[in-house]
Amino acid sequence: MYAEKVLEHFSNPRNVGTIADADGIGAIGDPSCGDYLCINIKVKEERICDIKFQIYGCPAAIATSSVLTELAQGKSLDEAMQIEDLDVLEALGGLPDPKVHCSNLGAEALHQAILDYRSRLKDKT
Ligand code: FES
Repeated sequence: MYAEKVLEHFSNPRNVGTIADADGIGAIGDPSCGDYLCINIKVKEERICDIKFQIYGCPAAIATSSVLTELAQGKSLDEAMQIEDLDVLEALGGLPDPKVHCSNLGAEALHQAILDYRSRLKDKT
């Protein structure tokens, strides 16, 4: 059985979509054959000032992606790099054992988006 917070985030996911002029993009999975998560971030003064996600996945994956965006919003890039799968899981109040793997896309996609931002920055300098 899903925790109430999981159901709430699944029914009303936060920060869904893309950012037209994203500073960094991180994508995990393959949309043509399975679970896929794409995270867009906007960065201001080394902080995540906007974050959006698009996902192909089950209700648990949608809920975990939604709560991940709430965890990352406003954090410094270094703080956001510290967010791990377990933090996302705890923020949601846990998932049933067979669904724990569904929470494993978020942190990695977020980290990729930050690395993408840093790599773009490096290219500009
Ligand atoms: Fe594949 Fe949940 S994301 S079963």
